[in-house]
Amino acid sequence: MKKEFSFLIIAGFLTLSVFVFSADGKALYKKCSACHGKDGSKKALRVSAPLRGQKADALYNKMKGYQDGTYGGKKKAIMKRTVAKLSDEQLKVLAAYIETL
Ligand code: HEC
Repeated sequence: MKKEFSFLIIAGFLTLSVFVFSADGKALYKKCSACHGKDGSKKALRVSAPLRGQKADALYNKMKGYQDGTYGGKKKAIMKRTVAKLSDEQLKVLAAYIETL
């Protein structure tokens, strides 16, 4: 009985954290959707590869690359500015959210 109860509590926390996680990513992505499209399928300013269909790992690495100047094309300055103030944690949450689009 006791075991089942603690299992329920743990399951509850997990469900809650998944919920908070995705809500956060959605809120963060609001800033991005103007250029990348609500579902991530737009080519931002006609030059970016669509974000939709990309894996979280790849998205995270690209955003880190924009931050430290090791990734990007002609218009990378725009993305550098966009991700400059985002924490590592926020980039991970964003990447995980975009993967689900
Ligand atoms: C003002 C328009 C604009 C906004 C807002 C914007 N982006 Fe971008 N994004 C671009 C452009 C333009 C590129 C391509 C830049 C280049 O030349 O490397 C790009 C590229 C990217 C790439 C790399 C795509 C690839 O596969 O090469 C990622 C990832 C990305 N953006 C994520 C985001 C996220 C996450 C946000 C919101 C926090 C965001 N962008 C907001 C315009 C924008």
